[in-house]
Amino acid sequence: MLKLGLNIDHVATLREARYRGREWGEPDPVAAALVGEMAGAHGITVHLREDRRHMLDRDVWKLREAIKTRLNLEMANAPEIIGIALKLKPDVVCLVPERRQEVTTEGGLDVAGHWKELAETREKMNDSGIEVSLFIAPDAAQIEASARVGAQFIELHTGAFAEHFAQERERDREIERLVTGARQAHSLGLKVNAGHGLNYQNTPQIHRVPHLNELNTGHSIISRAVSVGLPVAVKEMLSLMENYPG
Ligand code: PXP
Repeated sequence: MLKLGLNIDHVATLREARYRGREWGEPDPVAAALVGEMAGAHGITVHLREDRRHMLDRDVWKLREAIKTRLNLEMANAPEIIGIALKLKPDVVCLVPERRQEVTTEGGLDVAGHWKELAETREKMNDSGIEVSLFIAPDAAQIEASARVGAQFIELHTGAFAEHFAQERERDREIERLVTGARQAHSLGLKVNAGHGLNYQNTPQIHRVPHLNELNTGHSIISRAVSVGLPVAVKEMLSLMENYPG
């Protein structure tokens, strides 16, 4: 079964647009997470950024208490956030690039270039019972380096696929890269997630990529929720993910 990790960062983005610096505000990302879970999301994903652009520390602590599914904390490989994660104990952390020098040309984390630091963090997280995922482009060198780091998961960056969705030839080329990457990762013993830019139009095409465990999707679901409500938006996305051949 292909699982849905509901990314609720944009609920906090909306709150911060009006209530930045306050102790309270709406909409509440924790309430959204609980509604998302009730609608069938298999996990909740949040990114605690170093600049606290959307999710705040109080949000992640409340989420840790409140949600019944898995908490996936996206984070930079930065000492302050590592310290928080080790105390918070999300089920999984997904290490993502936040600084320019950590990013590959295709937008994923440069695991090959930061192998040692990432391996150290991977070990600390695993020692605390937290699984580790690495958000990378479908690039052979990055996948090989992710296995060397000892991560449990990679999350394949689907941004280039989403960007080229309207151009058939480019879209198919991006799908092929995701297919090849998923096969390589699977053969190296990595579990494979995918995300970024997935929406109600392009998600069915992702069925062509084998070995997927979870899709992390946020912007399109939160956007659709404005029109149809969050439970319907989540259920519609789940129905597009049904019948994934695996
Ligand atoms: N996965 C990762 C690692 C991300 O950084 C993001 C964006 O926050 C997503 C998935 C979700 O992307 P989107 O909001 O475009 O669905």
